[in-house]
Amino acid sequence: MAKVLVGVSGGVAAYKAVEFVRLAVLAGHSVRVIQTPASLRFVGRATFSAITGAPVLVSEFESDPSRGCWPGEELPEHAPISHLALVENADVFVVAPATANLISRVAAGSSDELVSAAVLAANCRVLVAPAMNNRMWENPATVANVATLRERGITVLEPGEGQLASHGEAGKGRLIEPRELLAELDSAGGRSDFRGVRVLVTAGGTREAIDPVRFIGNRSSGRMGAALANAAASRGAEVTIICANSSIPTSSDVKVINVVSAAELGDACDQQFPNCDLLLMAAAVADFIPTAAADQKIKKSEGVPTIGLTASPDILAGLAGERRADQTVIGFAAEHGGDPLANARTKLKSKQLDALVLNDVSVADIGFESEENLVTFISADQELELARGPKLDVAHSILDQIKILGTNPQKG
Ligand SMILES: Cc1cc2nc3c(=O)[nH]c(=O)nc-3n(C[C@H](O)[C@H](O)[C@H](O)COP(=O)(O)O)c2cc1C
Repeated sequence: MAKVLVGVSGGVAAYKAVEFVRLAVLAGHSVRVIQTPASLRFVGRATFSAITGAPVLVSEFESDPSRGCWPGEELPEHAPISHLALVENADVFVVAPATANLISRVAAGSSDELVSAAVLAANCRVLVAPAMNNRMWENPATVANVATLRERGITVLEPGEGQLASHGEAGKGRLIEPRELLAELDSAGGRSDFRGVRVLVTAGGTREAIDPVRFIGNRSSGRMGAALANAAASRGAEVTIICANSSIPTSSDVKVINVVSAAELGDACDQQFPNCDLLLMAAAVADFIPTAAADQKIKKSEGVPTIGLTASPDILAGLAGERRADQTVIGFAAEHGGDPLANARTKLKSKQLDALVLNDVSVADIGFESEENLVTFISADQELELARGPKLDVAHSILDQIKILGTNPQKG
């Protein structure tokens, strides 16, 4: 997990930075926060300090009780200069929200307070998430400043569109949502052990039409698949995700293909699978589909309908059966009741998978719709329970195990 420095400047969206920092800590990142003096008018440093468990600095002249270190690190004997040490020790520096003023200071190379001085001194990856009124965002001065930052290698994320803080106003300038910012952070994380690997992820749960308004679905949220996609992208992979009815954000460099039904997911997989080195089949695909969907809404007045079901084709087994020798195929199984390990082993073998990630969804608080997961990684010669944690951490642990498997994507 990354050591993240967050710079907060003085806009209304500073309250969203609190949520972003909370999510980043929850995802397992170690976070330190620095603030501009103006930002203190919006959110106090006690909030960030409580969430991160680390002191929050506002001036380059105040001493840092943590001496440029992140929570849990051993303090150096020598007290360093904060605006230099913090960026030297960070893996990623996220400025959120970035005001028009801060962006202009950074573009001008100004360093008259801690956050802009830290940006000027940064040699780590810098992500800037602007937030301001749409007229400020569209002003040619801001447009030119943003272009300058981008030319210098700083990643400036596009703000969102919608309602703005000023009463009754809407337009482009909203701070990117905290979850999306977290996905961008994960993508900027710095590891590159999957560079050059083309990863195909399926996520979410398919829906099978009963009639134009009703469907048979399942409880999969797509979080685990999105976490796998983000984790792989952050480690340098070229990632495509086929999302079945999931709107969990993925980082901007993940290609997203949206589908609804098992048949659509199967078609998308058929198209994408030949171009991937590693398939992570995390979607919950319907096992049974209505034999025939009505083309008009079934009327309640016509009584209780009988819905015939047919077994849907096993997409994963089909893909695994036709794969090339240089492709790795990982299945995911949500088991409930019975003997989950035995069922998973049977699937691993019958579907000819390289490994299977078992999720016992009868355990409370994990799996479907939950932020955390606890899985067992099963391959031909091992069964390994991975540490329980946020889905992004679990995703990284799964990728670590795939590396250890030593199948083709990691050989190069
Ligand atoms: C209520 C209020 C809300 C503001 N919101 C924003 C904002 O969302 N974005 C922005 O660029 N400036 C905003 N400003 C203006 C900045 O606070 C001002 O430019 C300040 O100098 C920014 O300082 P900093 O960049 O050092 O944090 C706001 C000002 C006020 C009074």
